[in-house]
Amino acid sequence: MAKLLYVKVNPKEDGNSDSSILANFFLEEYRVHNPQDEIEILDLYKSDIPFLDVDVFRAWGKFASKEKLTPVEQEKSERMDQLTDQFMEADKIVFSAPFWNLSFPPMLKAYMDTICIVGKTFHYTAEGAAGLLEDRPCLLIETRGGFYSEGPNAELEFSKSYLQAIMSFLGITNFKAIIAEGLDVNSSNPDQMRANCRAELSELAKTF
Ligand SMILES: Cc1cc2nc3c(=O)[nH]c(=O)nc-3n(C[C@H](O)[C@H](O)[C@H](O)COP(=O)(O)O)c2cc1C
Repeated sequence: MAKLLYVKVNPKEDGNSDSSILANFFLEEYRVHNPQDEIEILDLYKSDIPFLDVDVFRAWGKFASKEKLTPVEQEKSERMDQLTDQFMEADKIVFSAPFWNLSFPPMLKAYMDTICIVGKTFHYTAEGAAGLLEDRPCLLIETRGGFYSEGPNAELEFSKSYLQAIMSFLGITNFKAIIAEGLDVNSSNPDQMRANCRAELSELAKTF
């Protein structure tokens, strides 16, 4: 039995969000092909995701000096450990996110900051930083108002490119992105885009 971690990155209710609707469609299809697998949901807008704030940096400083942590420092570092362990224990990972201001919503960056932990998910070698995670399938399902996969705006895409880079930094290179673009462009055909995306997701669900 494999464990799939689904990370939802959108404050909207599922029914009002194209990226969540597509992700739920993928998960339903995945369940059909993998009924024995466990699907764990992490909704970043409904979960406690600590920011790298003064408490966290103080806690990190105290780890070295073995000084006692305050209750808040303790709570935040324990939560970061939990989130990192949950990510490390997942056999497969699915992210869903909308494209916001040329990237993904900020909670995903906060989440990346909590799971990029030196000595746990990456380490430093003579050649530089290297991932410590075993490779595993990772999927990003994203929806965008405009077009960024190609054309004049391709250089302005800091969402898929960043997530793919940070996954690779941790050791996860089996990365795929399925993206519905142009959903807010009048002259495009958003329903066709959604349908194309569903067809791709349906195929991928058989082998993911
Ligand atoms: C705050 C905000 C910022 C956005 N920024 C962009 C953007 O930079 N480029 C773009 O193509 N679409 C942008 N959009 C449009 C969304 O990417 C698009 O509507 C997407 O389909 C929303 O997905 P959702 O329904 O899952 O929330 C933005 C939407 C919001 C709400």
